[in-house]
Amino acid sequence: MEVSLIAAVSVDGVIGNLDGGIPWPRLPRDIQHFRDYTKDKFLLLGRRTYEEMVDWFRPGHVPLVVSSQNLELSQGRSFQSVEAALDYGRSQQAEEIVVCGGGETYRSTISFAGKLLVSRVHVEIDDGVFFPEIKEAEWQLSNTEFWPADEENTLAVEMQTWLRRR
Ligand SMILES: NC(=O)c1ccc[n+]([C@@H]2O[C@H](COP(=O)([O-])OP(=O)(O)OC[C@H]3O[C@@H](n4cnc5c(N)ncnc54)[C@H](OP(=O)(O)O)[C@@H]3O)[C@@H](O)[C@H]2O)c1
Repeated sequence: MEVSLIAAVSVDGVIGNLDGGIPWPRLPRDIQHFRDYTKDKFLLLGRRTYEEMVDWFRPGHVPLVVSSQNLELSQGRSFQSVEAALDYGRSQQAEEIVVCGGGETYRSTISFAGKLLVSRVHVEIDDGVFFPEIKEAEWQLSNTEFWPADEENTLAVEMQTWLRRR
């Protein structure tokens, strides 16, 4: 079972505001990329990100939520550790689990991941919730695609695919 992390990250490493939400305008092309990549897949989310995304899931999504609490969820299942969520995915023969954040959850799953899909948003934020450091000794940039800003997508994005070095 493959574990991948998908995130939109500012050039200085920020993914979110300390009090929740994303600190840049809505970027429809990046949202579409996120929808396309996660379609019909097992997703792994931290409790805070789950609460922000609860209305967003589609019928094919299987949300696995990590929390120290025993949560009653309207969608998906909750687990008290990342390892328990990954074991469940394996027991369901999931081919891939896509980690959708946020910062604490990326930090506790990156060691299990073989792929990072990073939408590098061309904006500086300075402070907030950070994506973990991508260490070049561990990760190789395998593909990039540049999406210039336009009327709908007001910030340019470099879509990066990183693969774990073997
Ligand atoms: N730019 C992006 O692509 C992107 C994507 C997703 C989220 N975000 C942003 O990220 C921010 C939220 O990130 P965050 O770091 O504050 O929260 P988070 O990772 O979404 O959720 C944190 C919570 O998840 C649970 N958790 C995390 N790791 C765990 C583990 N190993 N074992 C058990 N439980 C675990 C805990 O829940 P309990 O407190 O219930 O124990 C913890 O408080 C928001 O601003 C959001 O908008 C951005």
